[in-house]
Amino acid sequence: MAGNSIGKEFVITSFGESHGKIVGVIIDGCPAGLPLSEADVQAEVDRRIPKQPKIVSGRTEKDTVQILSGVFNSLTTGAPITMTVENRDVNSSDYEAMKDLPRPGHADFTAHIKYGGFSDYRGGGRFSGRITIALIMAGAVAKRLLNQFGVDVFAYTKAIGNVKLDKSLSFEEVRSRRYETAVRCPDKATAKKMEDAIVASRKDGDSIGGIIEIIGANVPVGVGEPLFDALDADIAKALFDLPAVKGVEFGAGFKAAALKGSENNDAFRIEKGSITTLTNNHGGILGGISSGMPLVIRIAVKPTPSIAKEQQTVALSTMENASLKVLGRHDPCVVPKAVPAAESAVAITLVDHMIRGGFIPKVMKEQA
Ligand SMILES: Cc1cc2nc3c(=O)[nH]c(=O)nc-3n(C[C@H](O)[C@H](O)[C@H](O)COP(=O)(O)O)c2cc1C
Repeated sequence: MAGNSIGKEFVITSFGESHGKIVGVIIDGCPAGLPLSEADVQAEVDRRIPKQPKIVSGRTEKDTVQILSGVFNSLTTGAPITMTVENRDVNSSDYEAMKDLPRPGHADFTAHIKYGGFSDYRGGGRFSGRITIALIMAGAVAKRLLNQFGVDVFAYTKAIGNVKLDKSLSFEEVRSRRYETAVRCPDKATAKKMEDAIVASRKDGDSIGGIIEIIGANVPVGVGEPLFDALDADIAKALFDLPAVKGVEFGAGFKAAALKGSENNDAFRIEKGSITTLTNNHGGILGGISSGMPLVIRIAVKPTPSIAKEQQTVALSTMENASLKVLGRHDPCVVPKAVPAAESAVAITLVDHMIRGGFIPKVMKEQA
């Protein structure tokens, strides 16, 4: 199974399965001299699962982070960093009952065909949302690197089903409040409606999707390597690599298609001696290169495939039509758990490009 690594200078390799022993990541190319502890990474991993049982799956994992290599005296050494969490609360019996019946909307069918029936189907195997922990651990390191250079990446839930956040909040409000609600929406009143929408769809034996917005603040001008490693192209790739992501847009995004040039263009102005734009329809990237305006990215997340409602499927062994009610523990909406994963996807891509562009050095500071 190839395709488990991403990046050119800051290279992330993900490994592990949902019901195997561990989920982990190796980062090759992390600059030396970055202060890093297990607690730093743990703090990010702990944000993954909202503490509201009504909106998440019943699987309870401690997800204790272990750093196995690449850190010495609480500083990165420049050698590969290996980080893992264990899978402990594993119950594979529901998957034995379903292994012949691919879940509509999930990767069961495509993985079964591609890997000749050898892929680990338990808990969705490599295609489980749990695998995003690898990205979140790498994202924790990337965010610490970015913070050293004043760059901040933060994501939040903008919509769940038809419930949309329509208030305009400052970046600081979004940044500081996004993890205060279980759905990861920085406005408490909207968050309550989103939570109710998730609970209602779960009661109905169904699931629901939503939209996540990711902001990259203080990204310097000039990050990105056109043509084929354009910053927007690489960010979109990393975000599409997250399970359940079905759309990515920057700035005005799909709405730009209906605007006139005079409406969509962002006028340049000088502000306090620097070049800026009056609006940000371009979402902080022009020609695949960061413009110095905030990155504004949105992803569309589909409803969870595994639902209790009866669905049509096929029996792989007999090649007959069949029906399926998905058993097991599933998230009624994957959006809240995908928020830190989306932050991480953008952070690791930015770090990779900032190292390539010379914005982040390979050694953070000389040690005596
Ligand atoms: C954080 C997260 C959690 C997820 N949890 C579930 C789940 O509990 N049940 C499920 O069927 N799919 C879940 N998914 C979605 C599937 O992993 C995904 O839809 C599947 O692998 C097919 O990939 P695709 O939707 O990208 O085509 C989750 C996704 C993410 C990002």
